[in-house]
Amino acid sequence: MNKRDFLKTVGAASILTLLSPSDVFGIHNDNSKKVLILGGRGFLGPSIVKEFLTSGYEVTLLNRGKTNTHLFNNLPIIICDREKENKAGLKAIDKKYKDTYWDIVVDTWQKSPKAISDFLDEFKGRIGHYHYISSISVYGNWNKKFITENDPLKSLPKRPESIAEGMKHRYALRKTFAEEAIREQIDNYTIYRSHGMRDFRSVDPSNIIDEPFWPIRFYRGGEILLPHVKNHHIQAVDVKSLVSFIVLCSHQNTFGEFNIACEPTPFKDYVSSLIHATAMPEKLYWIDGEFLIKNGLIPYKVVPFWKPKPEGSYYFNVQKAIEAGFVHRPLVDMIKDQIEGYKYRYPKNDIIFGKQSDGQVKYYSLEHEKEIIKKWVSKQR
Ligand SMILES: NC(=O)c1ccc[n+]([C@@H]2O[C@H](COP(=O)([O-])OP(=O)(O)OC[C@H]3O[C@@H](n4cnc5c(N)ncnc54)[C@H](OP(=O)(O)O)[C@@H]3O)[C@@H](O)[C@H]2O)c1
Repeated sequence: MNKRDFLKTVGAASILTLLSPSDVFGIHNDNSKKVLILGGRGFLGPSIVKEFLTSGYEVTLLNRGKTNTHLFNNLPIIICDREKENKAGLKAIDKKYKDTYWDIVVDTWQKSPKAISDFLDEFKGRIGHYHYISSISVYGNWNKKFITENDPLKSLPKRPESIAEGMKHRYALRKTFAEEAIREQIDNYTIYRSHGMRDFRSVDPSNIIDEPFWPIRFYRGGEILLPHVKNHHIQAVDVKSLVSFIVLCSHQNTFGEFNIACEPTPFKDYVSSLIHATAMPEKLYWIDGEFLIKNGLIPYKVVPFWKPKPEGSYYFNVQKAIEAGFVHRPLVDMIKDQIEGYKYRYPKNDIIFGKQSDGQVKYYSLEHEKEIIKKWVSKQR
C-alpha cells in the first residue's frame, strides 16, 4: 500500500467512526418503527433516545416522570413505576400503550431484576426486539484475560420472588439475574455487557468520583504524574459508540450477548489520546508503580485506569461485537466529550480530588501529586 492509499484508508476509517449507523450503513427508517425506551432520562438513556430519533424512529419513554424532567418533553411518556410489587405499576398503564406493538424496547434497568421479569411477563408478545444494557460484572471469574461471551457467569442464589428481595442483591448479581430472566422468557433479545461507560454526562453529577479523572488532569496541564508499570492496559466504552451499535443491532436484527468496550489499549496510547485531546502538558513523570503504592497511590482505588488484579479486568474480548459491526470511536473523541461535560459541570475548573471533608478518598489532589513527583525526582538524583 502506498502512502496515498494508506491516507485514503485511514481517512475513510476515521470518517466512519464519526458517523452514526444511519450514515454509515444507510439506515433510514421509512416505516417509523416504534421504540419504547424504559427510563431514558438518566445517564445513558438520553444518548439512546437521541440516536433512535436521529435514525428516524418513533420514540416513547416509560418512567416515573421524576428524573431530568426537562428532557424530551416533546416525546410521549408512559408514566409507570416499575418498582411496585405484583406488577401494580405495569398494570396501571393505559390500555392503549399496553396493546401497542413495540418494534424495539431498550431497557437500562439496574435495580431489582424482578422488575425485568415483570415487564417481560406483561409485554412479551408485543416486543419485536428487546435490548438490555448489562455489564461485564456478570462474569464469574475475572482472573483470566480475554473473557468471551461463552465464559461462565456468576453463580446465582435463589431467584428473588419480589421487587424488594431483588433489591437486596449487589449490582453484579442483579445484572446476572436480569440476564437469566431475559434468556428464560424471550429469544428476541440483545444483551450489551458494557465495561465502564464514558460520556459527556456523569453517572452522578453530585459525586466527584464519577468525574473523569485523567481527562481533567490533562485538561489542567502542568507537570503530570503517571504510573510506570509493565503490561498496563485499559478498557472502557464510549457511550456514543455503544448507542450506535444498539441502533445497528436493531436494524440488522442482531441478537445475543456482546461484550462492549474498546479493545484492550496500552495505557501509553491512552495517554497519547489525552495529550491530543488537550494540549501538550509541561512534563510527564512516569513513576515506578511500587513507589506510587508506597506513597498511597493505590491502583484503581486511588489511581483510576490502573487495575493489575484481577488479571482480566481490562482485557475483555470484544471480537464478537466488532464482527457484528461495533465500531469504537477513537479514544481522543471520547475524551474530548468527557472534558466538555466536565467544563459544563465545573465551569471554574475547580474540582478538588483527594481526601474529602467526610474522610473519603476520591482520587488524589494536585498537592499530593506534586509531593510525590518531588520525592521521586530527589530519589533519582
Ligand atoms: N458500566 C458502567 O460503567 C456503567 C456506568 C453507568 C451505568 N451503567 C449501566 O448503564 C445502565 C444505564 O442506566 P441509566 O441510569 O443511565 O439509565 P437511564 O435510562 O438513562 O436512566 C434511568 C431511568 O430510569 C427511570 N426510573 C428510575 N426508577 C424507576 C422506576 N421505579 N420505574 C420506572 N422508571 C424508573 C428514571 O426516571 P424516573 O426517575 O423519572 O422514573 C430514568 O429515566 C444501567 O443498567 C447501569 O447499570 C453502567
